Amino acid sequence: MLNSTKSYQMPSDADALRLLSAQGPELEALYARADAVRREHMSDTVFLRGIVEFSNVCANDCCYCGIRASNRKIRRYTMNEDEILEVARCLPESQQTTIVLQSGESEAFGDKELGALIQRIKRETPLAVTLSVGNRPPEVYRYWRECGLDRYLLRFETSDARLFARLHPDCTLEERLACLTTMRDLGVQVGSGFMIGVPGETPAVLSANILLCRKLQLDMIGIGPFIVHPDTPMAGERNAYHDDPDMFFRALAVLRLFNPKAHIPATTAYDAVFPGEGRNWCLQRGANVFMPNSTPAQYRADYQLYPGKPCLNETGEQCAQCVIMRVQALGRTIGSGPGHSRRTQEAPSETGALTD
Ligand code: 5AD
Ligand code: FES
Repeated sequence: MLNSTKSYQMPSDADALRLLSAQGPELEALYARADAVRREHMSDTVFLRGIVEFSNVCANDCCYCGIRASNRKIRRYTMNEDEILEVARCLPESQQTTIVLQSGESEAFGDKELGALIQRIKRETPLAVTLSVGNRPPEVYRYWRECGLDRYLLRFETSDARLFARLHPDCTLEERLACLTTMRDLGVQVGSGFMIGVPGETPAVLSANILLCRKLQLDMIGIGPFIVHPDTPMAGERNAYHDDPDMFFRALAVLRLFNPKAHIPATTAYDAVFPGEGRNWCLQRGANVFMPNSTPAQYRADYQLYPGKPCLNETGEQCAQCVIMRVQALGRTIGSGPGHSRRTQEAPSETGALTD
């Protein structure tokens, strides 16, 4: 059914930048094409991955991020293993087949403890496990893989090394990319991506970000608009596309054309910029994954990487039901398998039998 992909004609590299300036009828045609490519390669299925933001403790000082170490205005928290397991056990009831464990970059939850948590989730639930906890040494990634880790998310944020350095006092672009390579070599499904419109970004950099995703052969790609956080050194700056917010969706549509088989989520930041609509539009312009917020309500206010994050007062169950309705209203079906990488499916690795 999904094997018609051999005939797919990817646009040329130069087209990426040209498409990022599409307007009017050309823009509508771009969205329609991205939607068609998504349907052809990923079907009408939308996979739900429940995200649990299990700790906001962070040792880093990324200039854009609301949970950076220097922000003293937030209450720091770390969920314990039993709290996380309680959330994990509920996810399958609302058709969420993957748990995404995300936190700040710190030792608040030790490497060993995280390994034990992965093992427990794999033993006690049918969930696929994705981790998103930043740069770590290769031996730690290897240990987590041995514990059963399925996937890892680590955005490169921008492909421009100088811009990266301006935003990240704690690591280089090269180190970040090396983490992705390590993960790939370990057989972990790799997700990365970038923010759209960090100050100083040009359409040429945005185009290079999209092409880097293709070069890295990512299994999952998450992108979303940069949003100014008032309690960071970037307060007072503006998104580079402040006057042209269509760019957030052009980027997504072009990303799909260049990465036809990647899992691309409709990320929460789009709903922060376009409340109640942003993620729906993403699903119609290239995205095929939705990540309901499954963080317990009492912690949500303290995990605002950017302001305007939706669902601060909702429970995980409410978000899941809302998301299911949103997906179904678009005429799409919820994925029932783990939604592993389609690339991995074509060249099976030791991750075992893969269902769609
Ligand atoms: N605006 C938009 N996205 C942000 N992220 C962090 N801070 C912001 C912000 N101010 C994104 C980064 C990170 C992901 C977890 O959240 O891309 O990788
Ligand atoms: Fe949380 Fe709609 S996604 S309430």
